[in-house]
Amino acid sequence: MNLLDDHYVADGVADKIISKISGTTDCNKKDISLNHFKYDQFHIGGAAATQKLLKLMGDVTRSVVLDVGAGYGGVARYLAHFGGANVVAVDLAQGYVESAQKIHESFPFSGGVTYLQGDVCGDFSDAEMGAQLFDWCVWVHLGMNISNKEGALRTLCNKLSDKGKIIIYDVLKVGGDVLVEECFPLPWAENEAQSFVDDVRTYENKLLNAGFKVVYKEKYGDILPKIINNPTPDDVIPLAGSDFKLCLENLRQLLARGAVVPWFIIAEKI
Ligand SMILES: C[S@@+](CC[C@H](N)C(=O)[O-])C[C@H]1O[C@@H](n2cnc3c(N)ncnc32)[C@H](O)[C@@H]1O
Repeated sequence: MNLLDDHYVADGVADKIISKISGTTDCNKKDISLNHFKYDQFHIGGAAATQKLLKLMGDVTRSVVLDVGAGYGGVARYLAHFGGANVVAVDLAQGYVESAQKIHESFPFSGGVTYLQGDVCGDFSDAEMGAQLFDWCVWVHLGMNISNKEGALRTLCNKLSDKGKIIIYDVLKVGGDVLVEECFPLPWAENEAQSFVDDVRTYENKLLNAGFKVVYKEKYGDILPKIINNPTPDDVIPLAGSDFKLCLENLRQLLARGAVVPWFIIAEKI
């Protein structure tokens, strides 16, 4: 039993995502549109942030990409469909792996995604992944669950080919110990014990110690006004947590008072 199991629950969520996508204008046609990625993105900014992530990665056609902490697989599918990448999407929670697979099979996405269960903090040696080396590692809203980031990053560094890169899109803290008990639940954690939010300097140090050099970083402030000024709708799909709407509202408040902010960081294997 994992500490996160009580937070990351997936019962019936895949069906809700599939039904929402199917009910959206144009989603029953043969062509895949941005609307197919409206409900499966489990991170701040949704598909717009994923669009930006792909832009920052540049041309990934036929690149082999390892998406860690892939959740419902929205980012992996986007990179495969719109970027032409071959993606291996790994998540700790078997329920998420099955949900991601189910969503994938419900629509005519193009490109290859393989969904696997794996723990980035474990030995990470899934038989299907084997000794394959990757051009990119994608880490989206994962770091907030990882206490030993340096260890996880070192594991991933070993999975990259020469000059391979990692792109991180995480929620980072701005000041000192800002995430006190009253701030929870949050979309990635029910309580303080499950949450490991760090600042940008800590990420840079841990990346360096793990064998990377940071080549790009950007505070993603553009996305904030839209989130801060729009209360969470009542019919939001409960992607995780006992009360996902409350999780999102709590996060909105943290973003509004500038305690946390999303960042993109790209680092290259040294
Ligand atoms: C906030 S979700 C982000 C999902 C996805 N990257 C996205 O943006 O849509 C974080 C995901 O990380 C996964 N996760 C947490 N700890 C992990 C670990 N040690 N190894 C692999 N996945 C992990 C969780 O199960 C969850 O699906």
